[in-house]
Amino acid sequence: MLAGKRILLIIGGGIAAYKALDLIRRIKERGAAVTPVLTRAGTEFVTPLSVAALAGAKVHTDLFDLTDEASMGHIALSRVADLIVVAPATADLMAKMAQGRADDLASTLLLATDTRVLIAPAMNVRMWTHPATLRNLATLTGDGVLTIGPNEGDMACGEFGPGRMAEPPEIIAAIEAALADGPLRGKHVLVTSGPTQEPIDPVRYIANRSSGAQGTAIAQALAALGARVTFITGPASVPPPDGVTVVPVQTAQEMLAAVTAALPADAAIFAAAVADWRVQNASDHKIKKTAANAPPVLRFAENPDILATVAKGTPRPRLVVGFAAETDDVIAQATQKRARKGCDWIVANDVRPETGIMGGTDNAVTLITESGTESWPRMGKDAVARKLAARIAGALT
Ligand code: C5P
Repeated sequence: MLAGKRILLIIGGGIAAYKALDLIRRIKERGAAVTPVLTRAGTEFVTPLSVAALAGAKVHTDLFDLTDEASMGHIALSRVADLIVVAPATADLMAKMAQGRADDLASTLLLATDTRVLIAPAMNVRMWTHPATLRNLATLTGDGVLTIGPNEGDMACGEFGPGRMAEPPEIIAAIEAALADGPLRGKHVLVTSGPTQEPIDPVRYIANRSSGAQGTAIAQALAALGARVTFITGPASVPPPDGVTVVPVQTAQEMLAAVTAALPADAAIFAAAVADWRVQNASDHKIKKTAANAPPVLRFAENPDILATVAKGTPRPRLVVGFAAETDDVIAQATQKRARKGCDWIVANDVRPETGIMGGTDNAVTLITESGTESWPRMGKDAVARKLAARIAGALT
């Protein structure tokens, strides 16, 4: 899948830089060419000689290249690739990218490029969870930068948590997804997935049983057909797919804001199980149980209907697909829902507990479109996703 592709690999300065050597080997094994760029800090962790030997290509570093415009200017260097991969992407590199700074070769290339960028963040857990890094990540994903990882685990600094760079095979999968040639190449599709969590107080919330499995499979299937996918997910129990832009949210209101920010899109698939209500009188402090107190009374406010807002708003994606998880009169309810929400298609399913669909691996859906209903046999959620992605590709091309 990578044969003949050109990857510009920017290696930042972090202990995870050693994994970049393995990554180069794996990219080369798949028939792609690697143009390596080492940041000044990167040279503290891996040597230009080892990078050049594995890549079989000249290494670009600040030392040589800022004065080396004649051989390959930084603008040209930033444009020759099919994909720019930043691995490891340090907190500092992410901050520079988010701010649009250009004070060294790597950041200059990243600002000068119109090629897609995939980052594999790697840093100490506290740096990763710092509000500044989270702000930078949100800016970058909003700019269309793809991310892979980081993973959770033991860190070189002795701490435990998210911040470890994704493993080279995971980065390869993300590269393959980003470069997938397919009928949806050049199309932007957004997918909502997972449950939402609506706070009652700082420690309690209202949620639902959605695992996010079907939405995740759909996002993966769309990316495999070449789509640029923005995946807006509530706190799901399955990990997000590789090679898509992941926007994590918690509440329905955050999900609506993220969806609106991600528009325009060619298609939007609303697989999330959004809470219909939020707690209007949510407390800023943990609600205490005291002998004198009666149990708290929760007042609910209706959440925005994200699907209906997008289906009836502008810019409207050409194809808007909703889901209808029902326990009774599935097809009749879903047909009405299609009209009420203003979407093009509804994917309906029966979520009575005895079907084992909610939280399970299989799904049995009925696709409801303008031209009628079509019941698909029970199959794995991955197979449903591939079939739906193929139908979406048919509708958009
Ligand atoms: O009305 P109901 O929740 O059954 O509709 C389900 C569909 O609407 C799903 O596609 C779901 O993602 C979407 N939805 C939404 N925002 C809401 C409620 C549902 O986008 N607040």
